[in-house]
Amino acid sequence: MALQLKWVLVTGGAGYIGSHTVVELIENGYKCVVVDNLCNSSYESIARLQVLTKTEIPFFNVDLTDEEGVAKIFQQYPIDSVIHFAGLKAVGESATIPLKYYHNNITGTLVLLETMRKFGTKKLVFSSSATVYGDATRFPDMIPIPEECPTQPTNPYGKTKLAIEEILADLHASEPEKWKFAVLRYFNPIGAHASGLIGEDPLGIPNNLLPYMAQVAVKRREKLFVFGNDYDSRDGTPIRDYIHVVDLARGHIASLKYLDQIGDKQGICRAWNLGSGTGSTVMEVYKAFCLACGIDLQFEVVGRRAGDVLNLTAKPTRALEELKWRTEMSVADACEDLWKWTTGNPFGYQVMGVVDTMFN
Ligand code: NAD
Ligand code: WQD
Repeated sequence: MALQLKWVLVTGGAGYIGSHTVVELIENGYKCVVVDNLCNSSYESIARLQVLTKTEIPFFNVDLTDEEGVAKIFQQYPIDSVIHFAGLKAVGESATIPLKYYHNNITGTLVLLETMRKFGTKKLVFSSSATVYGDATRFPDMIPIPEECPTQPTNPYGKTKLAIEEILADLHASEPEKWKFAVLRYFNPIGAHASGLIGEDPLGIPNNLLPYMAQVAVKRREKLFVFGNDYDSRDGTPIRDYIHVVDLARGHIASLKYLDQIGDKQGICRAWNLGSGTGSTVMEVYKAFCLACGIDLQFEVVGRRAGDVLNLTAKPTRALEELKWRTEMSVADACEDLWKWTTGNPFGYQVMGVVDTMFN
């Protein structure tokens, strides 16, 4: 008898982590349908995914808050499970336009869950974030951070993530045998696919360290600004748990398989940290990227960035024990893959020079 492939709906699948996860899904024998409103991505990533995977990937340019649009996807495809990446994610911006963040992230999720209920889809993997822990250094004995660490997000973006985690917990509690929810708290995803075909393509000035350095390396930015070297760390710069995006993508496959093997008569709602368990400072990552690209990038130490904390490193034991997942690639691997993506696509998916200007 032919094996029946399962359809996975990937919300936000044109974006950075979603696109890398689509590759892993297809390699693991799943069929993918992608929904994305392209507010922070471009259709070019889907086109490249089709080349990379040699697979046709149905794509819906639909906003998740659009009930009818989302329902149409479930009408057309027998969706077995959902991986929910779609959301706005810029910490600083979320403090400037909080209502947009609450509406987009929370309403989008509510529409998705309501549609899943109507169509009988019970499994969902949710993109949460280490940002739900807030400043974990307030509990010094909780570093590296276990999932039991109290949550206390410090910005509207993080609050939307925690609110969604709570919505999932409440929905699961209302029908505990029905719903299967995997909440994945990512630490700092970096790097790109080793093919160099897909990668991170931030709009405007990058907020995150690696994309910023990559733009310095191809002379789109003049120099890196290091946000403070007066922290209580090895070299005075903050510590983060950087994780290769392909490792992260594989964590989603591990979670889906975990939900699949639970069986039909049992539900779950559980959080897992996806991190490596090893922290790197800003200067360590800077050196790793300089080595990968063969350039001594110019940098200047400036004041601390508001909201930054000393150390966010995961305790990844739960994911290892339960999901049988661990990171396999290093920061150096991620830097090499990022450099391959950047040299092949110095202006990301965009046409060179049209949508961006030097040093804006
Ligand atoms: P991304 O912006 O590259 O991808 C998100 C995608 O969702 C984009 O393609 C965007 O166009 C789409 N989208 C946003 N709102 C939508 C809506 N209402 N309807 C349809 N599509 C919508 O971001 P990413 O880095 O790939 O992150 C994916 C998820 O992981 C996000 O939920 C983010 O909050 C979470 N996360 C990211 C990081 C990180 O550092 N990148 C860390 C922790 C958690
Ligand atoms: C890393 C380190 C900066 C840029 C963010 C979100 C978090 C999650 C992941 C979504 C910090 C330093 C950075 C620069 C610098 N996203 N830095 N110069 O802040 O750990 O996490 O992305 O959920 O919620 O907050 O990542 O890459 O911005 O910063 O010195 O130009 O690099 O101070 O120490 P962060 P980041």
